[in-house]
Amino acid sequence: MKVAIDGPAGSGKSTVAKAIAKRCGLTLLDTGAMYRSAALACLKRGVALDDAETVAAVAREIKISFVPGEDRQTVLLDGEDVTDAIRTPEIDKAVTPVSANPAVREAMVLQQRAIGEQGDVVAEGRDIGTVVFPDAEVKVFLTADPAARALRRAVQRDGGDAAKDATATADQSAVAEIMADLIRRDEADSTRAASPLKPAEDAVHIDSSDKTVDEVVGLIVKMMEEAR
Ligand code: DC
Repeated sequence: MKVAIDGPAGSGKSTVAKAIAKRCGLTLLDTGAMYRSAALACLKRGVALDDAETVAAVAREIKISFVPGEDRQTVLLDGEDVTDAIRTPEIDKAVTPVSANPAVREAMVLQQRAIGEQGDVVAEGRDIGTVVFPDAEVKVFLTADPAARALRRAVQRDGGDAAKDATATADQSAVAEIMADLIRRDEADSTRAASPLKPAEDAVHIDSSDKTVDEVVGLIVKMMEEAR
């Protein structure tokens, strides 16, 4: 079975996909981590991000893999643990031009489909239901209002999980800064020519602003049972 979860940054995709993978025994495919790893590889090599051909060559050359763990999965870029290095504000910015590059997307989609061929997956990203796995049995478009998304990211950056802890708070100026960046990324992701962020026609829309992780996971598990 393929479960596709698309949506904007901070909508809760990662937390929900992780919970479904654990509960239902599916492989977790975090495609955002792949674009982030490609951006990191370019920065490490000193490649100018507007040099589309060299950026694409880097994306074709790198090997990204995931090692499942109890709490979170480890992301390996050519064998090196980059799990934390890909979650910095610098990468948040660098990933936008890298993920808008059609040749980069082609290379990443090939790797994503190869992982999908190995068995059941829950994949999260922006183009899973539209491009990567258009035949996915379950397609979800997960959204949340920008304020809720910014708070979740700010708490996450401090090591917490606002989706699990309703009382979690974060520094207001950090939340405002993250919200501005989320809005900038949503705009860039939704308006780019190559595989823009948009719901598949047959995707089920879920707004997670006022829902707990368990509620969202419950809805998706029910969809999975109905699709079997
Ligand atoms: O989900 P995330 O924030 O880790 O994703 C990082 C960036 O990668 C995001 O700005 C959009 C891009 N992305 C994409 O274009 N297509 C995907 N399938 C996943 C992520």
